[in-house]
Amino acid sequence: MPRARAVFHVATLICLCLVLSPGAWAHGHVHGHKKTDKRGILLVTFGSSCLQAQASFENIEARVKKAFPHVPVRWAYTSRMIRHKLAKEGKPIDSTATALAKMMDENFTHVAVQSLHTIAGAEFHDLRSIVNGFESMSCGFEKILLGYPLLAAPHDLVAVRDAMLNNIPEERKADDAVILMGHGTHHPSNAFYQAMAYIIQQKDPNMYVGTVEGAPSLDGILARIEDKGTDTAYLIPFMSVAGDHVRNDMAGAGTDSWKSTLSDKGITTKVVLKGTAEYDNIADLWVDHLKDIFSHF
Ligand code: CO
Repeated sequence: MPRARAVFHVATLICLCLVLSPGAWAHGHVHGHKKTDKRGILLVTFGSSCLQAQASFENIEARVKKAFPHVPVRWAYTSRMIRHKLAKEGKPIDSTATALAKMMDENFTHVAVQSLHTIAGAEFHDLRSIVNGFESMSCGFEKILLGYPLLAAPHDLVAVRDAMLNNIPEERKADDAVILMGHGTHHPSNAFYQAMAYIIQQKDPNMYVGTVEGAPSLDGILARIEDKGTDTAYLIPFMSVAGDHVRNDMAGAGTDSWKSTLSDKGITTKVVLKGTAEYDNIADLWVDHLKDIFSHF
């Protein structure tokens, strides 16, 4: 076959292929052509195996779906221990890397990963690394962005403070103490809890922020409320879910729980077993961070 005719045949064949498989264009299987946009949201939390904690996840998912009615929403838990426990119970949940790999397989082009953490501690930074890894893959997502946790900037502190002030039980009297219990961490971002404590006291001097594993500690708060002669304290979780820490460390019957420690000092305690993500006004602040990144797609 003369060379010119051979070239013609190859060209015809390529044209035919494209005409016969229009789907190739739409689904982006042809190299060098743009994939059809497919946007998705991945919500990432530490996770909880506590059944009551599901209320937080259900609420935040409902708020996200309300804000993004046509965008598929996926979940990932960062805690391996909790994922293993749930898998044994027949309720498997993906890790962040697995969830993102699946989304890549499903041809998502734009993925908004939203951290549901309270502060940008160690878990958020691990999440950052995973997102960076996916971002660096040349044939991966067109765009992958990570939304900040609840407290990431000074205006977040104000927004969360004002929302939590609205979430205090109505029967609370002005001189009753309100103690928010956060997780706390060795990570430098623990300073956000201290900043939260400071900013909350500017509006309500009988309101405190303490942590289980960082600073401020309960001891410091206890000394101050004893000085004031406070006789009643509300214990309110400052964690997205009312899971193990809330049910045991905060409200448990054990001698070390916050409730027992305060009771031992003669202070009447009233506990609230509700994670912050169960309040719409707080859940919507996470959703605002998600909207921030989504606006860059
Ligand atoms: Co913990």
